[in-house]
Amino acid sequence: MPSAYIKGIGFYVPENIVTNADLERHMDTTDEWIQERTGIQERRYCKKHKETTSILGTEAAKKALAHAGMDAKELDLIIFATLSPDYYFPGCGVLTQRQLGITDTEIPCLDIRNQCSGFVYGLSVADAFISSGMYRNILLIGAETHSMGLDYSTRGRNVTVIFGDGAGAVVLSATDEHFRGILSTRIHANGDFAEELAMINPGSHSGVHVPDPSIYGYKESEFGETFISQKMLDEGMLFPNMNGQLVFKNAVAKFPEVIGEVLDAAGLQKSDIDLLVCHQANLRISQFVQKTMGLRDDQVWNNIQKYGNTTAASIPIALAEAVEAGAVKKGDLVCLAAFGSGFTWGAALIRW
Ligand code: ACO
Repeated sequence: MPSAYIKGIGFYVPENIVTNADLERHMDTTDEWIQERTGIQERRYCKKHKETTSILGTEAAKKALAHAGMDAKELDLIIFATLSPDYYFPGCGVLTQRQLGITDTEIPCLDIRNQCSGFVYGLSVADAFISSGMYRNILLIGAETHSMGLDYSTRGRNVTVIFGDGAGAVVLSATDEHFRGILSTRIHANGDFAEELAMINPGSHSGVHVPDPSIYGYKESEFGETFISQKMLDEGMLFPNMNGQLVFKNAVAKFPEVIGEVLDAAGLQKSDIDLLVCHQANLRISQFVQKTMGLRDDQVWNNIQKYGNTTAASIPIALAEAVEAGAVKKGDLVCLAAFGSGFTWGAALIRW
């Protein structure tokens, strides 16, 4: 049975740097508040009318393909994870296929809607396809353009200061080498928390799931009968909402739990981990997980300070950066872990 390994990796972030001081000009916030609660110093925002989620993803994909020494025509499948797609439908996968100039291959494109856990979910799916022998080369992308959908008034400050734009990609290929590549993955979800970290509008729910939306910060209880309404625009109901403390509480419990599961599945221990790359949700969450697991600073990679939380893109961006910096060597044990909206969470263990 073949295993899946990361043959190539790359990331792309927009040039435009937005500092905490820049945000202070739009909303009642401070650099001190943002850094103290989240660790974030700056983030990137895409160039409007030029860069989109699929375009960022395509740039990262080109770098991953170059790193793998592969032509895009050799791919058997594209998996694209994002919560901020260019279009509500179709997904970014087909747009990426077109932008890579490989529509003539007619390879399948799969879009993943698992937010912060999207990359780890994608890795798990790609691993299953490769191990079953169905595909040999899979492009997996995580990309986000949060800057198009945030509330830049003081009302949205608890969410807006956290997120940034960017993309990361890997090429996963089949290998017959034993004990190399993805050793184990575990993915989970609990839909009881669906609205606690969500962008509810626009959508086809017409208020069914949230009879009292005021608890999620919306002004009134009528959502109307259409996908999007003037009222949603007028009342600022088109932005993400987050129950920050509940997210924090669940994240710091689920990260170590699921990392323990992938280690158990591979018959390994915490002390075997050479590098842990957590979804860059919040530096405080990552530090809490590091402390709980008793890991040294050189065993974890954090870069949320520079890019903010880039959701599905954060793990491949951080991993690509670590690889570029020479922090990952052949034979190292790398652990990836994510937690986010859904709630969804998961982890993967990779022998590099
Ligand atoms: N600037 C200044 N003040 C702010 C800001 C801001 N950007 N945002 C909120 N505040 C204010 C609030 O209005 C509130 O003021 P009040 O006391 O006068 O009412 C005060 O700060 C405290 O607000 P809380 O929401 O209680 O702040 P908390 O201490 O919980 O910190 C935070 C918020 C940082 C989001 C925290 O809950 C947290 O770390 N949660 C984890 C969630 C997270 O990191 N999510 C990342 C995205 S989700 C994911 O990737 C999994």
